[in-house]
Amino acid sequence: MRTGSIGNTKVSAIGLGGMPMSIEGRPDRRRSLATIHAALDAGVTLIDTADAYHLHADEVGHNESLIAEALGSYAGDTSDVLVATKGGHLRPGDGSWTIDSSPQHLRAACEDSLRRLGVDSIGLYQLHRPDTSGVPYEESVGAIAGLLDDGKIRMAGVSNASPDQIRTAQEVLGGRLVSVQNQYSPAYRSSEPELRLCDEMGIAFLPWSPLGGISKAAELGSRFSAFQEVADAHGVSSQQVTLAWMLAASPVVIPIPGSSRPETIQDSARAADLELGADELERLDAAL
Ligand SMILES: NC(=O)c1ccc[n+]([C@@H]2O[C@H](COP(=O)([O-])OP(=O)(O)OC[C@H]3O[C@@H](n4cnc5c(N)ncnc54)[C@H](OP(=O)(O)O)[C@@H]3O)[C@@H](O)[C@H]2O)c1
Repeated sequence: MRTGSIGNTKVSAIGLGGMPMSIEGRPDRRRSLATIHAALDAGVTLIDTADAYHLHADEVGHNESLIAEALGSYAGDTSDVLVATKGGHLRPGDGSWTIDSSPQHLRAACEDSLRRLGVDSIGLYQLHRPDTSGVPYEESVGAIAGLLDDGKIRMAGVSNASPDQIRTAQEVLGGRLVSVQNQYSPAYRSSEPELRLCDEMGIAFLPWSPLGGISKAAELGSRFSAFQEVADAHGVSSQQVTLAWMLAASPVVIPIPGSSRPETIQDSARAADLELGADELERLDAAL
């Protein structure tokens, strides 16, 4: 599969988002393991997760544990797989998402993620979300810098960050920011400035909910008819066209579509090799 880069690490141009396998509507463990194995079979070498991808209060890190189990039980070589996790979000178990990006919480959360993933150093650790409850952004990112210095994590990223926060993070990390993960899809393009900034800075941009999110992904072709028409012309899905369109936006873009079924990640992975013509890309851009 075509590759992209996160820092000095080469990864597949399409990653796997783990969230649908651990939150509301999740499948059973067997289907999740089959989904992750299907991703690996398809050549996916980037898996995105977070300690907050769980449902009940007593199962923090459900998704990290699933991924560790899937990698451990995979028959092939997984040494080139980059697991990207996050800290700073919490799920108390009532369906809500809360935030604690205090340095103390992030340090403890990272230790727990290390244990669940069964590694000495996390490949990519991302600050999940800025904490607006009074924790200065510099302090949250400072904690991530400390984790890098201590060797607890190999690479550092931020998520849900504005252009100013991306610049701040790069400064606090002393030039070691390798990725930004923001929401980006045909339905949600307000992170265009962050995408452009990452392109300028040579930092990986990982669009989250690239297909519009778990509950909307299936409607992509009916909501955006130009994407369906281009898909029909190639004999592929509108979701595949969407991912290929994103990849064409910049070499720093590495989408992380979520999946809870082998078929969907197999289909998404094929987007890495789907070439869209300049006229098609123009048509898709003009339709939004
Ligand atoms: N940083 C953040 O704050 C943040 C927030 C949200 C998400 N994320 C990350 O971003 C990842 C992706 O976002 P998301 O899962 O919310 O939404 P998404 O990727 O837009 O949509 C996920 C849904 O798309 C379906 N799908 C995937 N590939 C498909 C294909 N080729 N054809 C048809 N349907 C397809 C899947 O269906 P099936 O379930 O049936 O396989 C899945 O449930 C998450 O998994 C998570 O890792 C990060």
